[in-house]
Amino acid sequence: MMRNGSDDLARLVEFDRVHRSVYTDDAIFEREMETIFQRAWLYVGHQSQVPKPGDYCTALVGRQPLIMVRHSDGEVYVLYNRCAHRGAMLCANSRGNTGATFGCSYHSWQYRTDGTLESIPLPGGYEGTRLKPGATDYNLRRAARVDSYRGFVFASLTSSGPSLIEFLGEARIAFDNMCDRAPAGELQIVPTCFRFIQHSNWKIFMENQLDALHPYVTHESSGRAAIEVERQLAARKQQPPLEYHYLSAFITPFHEWDKLQTVNYPHGHCLLQGYMGLRPQDPDTLAYEAVMREHYGAEGAERILGVNIHHVLLYPGLSVQPALQQLRAVRPLAPDRTLTEIWHFRLKGAPEAIYRRALAYYNLINSPSTMVNADDLENFWRCHQGLASDGGDWVSFHRSAGQDDDRDGVITSRRGTSEAPMRNQFRAWKQYLSGEQ
Ligand code: FES
Ligand SMILES: [Fe+2]
Repeated sequence: MMRNGSDDLARLVEFDRVHRSVYTDDAIFEREMETIFQRAWLYVGHQSQVPKPGDYCTALVGRQPLIMVRHSDGEVYVLYNRCAHRGAMLCANSRGNTGATFGCSYHSWQYRTDGTLESIPLPGGYEGTRLKPGATDYNLRRAARVDSYRGFVFASLTSSGPSLIEFLGEARIAFDNMCDRAPAGELQIVPTCFRFIQHSNWKIFMENQLDALHPYVTHESSGRAAIEVERQLAARKQQPPLEYHYLSAFITPFHEWDKLQTVNYPHGHCLLQGYMGLRPQDPDTLAYEAVMREHYGAEGAERILGVNIHHVLLYPGLSVQPALQQLRAVRPLAPDRTLTEIWHFRLKGAPEAIYRRALAYYNLINSPSTMVNADDLENFWRCHQGLASDGGDWVSFHRSAGQDDDRDGVITSRRGTSEAPMRNQFRAWKQYLSGEQ
């Protein structure tokens, strides 16, 4: 479908609609891998996954299997998971502690945790060959650029481009607000995640994250069931656990969702703010807020707790919910296969009840087996099936098109259900694919 050049891009991506082939075409997927996932800053992991020297975890970044590891000097390195000898993958496990070196399972070449080659067994066999002791060619390759922001480690597989801080721009509030919500100002990741493969294009997941038009429909039955339980408990004069509220909020009617607001930044990042119920007044929350005031003072605590952002999308591969300590990383595998990782965090210094709440949200809403995420997955699969068919050529992003406020490239939607976030993502998509980013 796509050959090259901006004519093709202009034909496939219009301001208010995109051609279905951008989701299904193999050549377009290849070009996305080259121009987006080989260039952009992509999330690798959180520094708290590797607290001690030798701790490592692996991640797929673009198409590259990488290792994030803590070296003896305290630095975190991001290395290709590929032995310099005959190419064997070094770490087959998703995490662990390797000690002082990575040893290859094939012929036992040993590498220090900064990637330098430490030793080769029977080193006497290489005289007169091109393999010279100490040659850097035989180190583990490092990701071209690695940087972190408040403990979140990113890599770019290309040596040029905007710095991480420039790339994140205003959307870095995702990390600032999540970290600031910890009385100690720091997060601890829970080192296991849900990892599953969606049978749909990666962009369908990204578009859904800030889609305020769908919850009232898609999650109606889950929300209704939760409300029913809340009513029954209230009739018995019992306080329903707060977790039910996270489910029942989904059947907030359309016009309430429409009161939310999306803010859409350069590079395709966007956020959804004004969400209902992110700051409940139950005893656990009030106890936590008291701890926050002790640490930050009344004004400081209010500045942090008053941030009412439900989702921040860091394009192309991250969805963060700072108030609920959730993070989802999107790792495309094929036009119709998307690996998603779902993580959650503990706020250092916060009462245990606040962690239990993050865990409950993780299990009840974001896990692939919940009544909420499973509904979304069904939609994603249905969308991909429909888009792969000849039943139509275009995907509509007309809602509120031309009705949002654009100030210096930052687009603020007047309605929560505007399709501005989808249009904004495709604005960035087109720039990446045409080499402008
Ligand atoms: S492939 Fe790694 S030591 Fe041979
Ligand atoms: Fe949903």
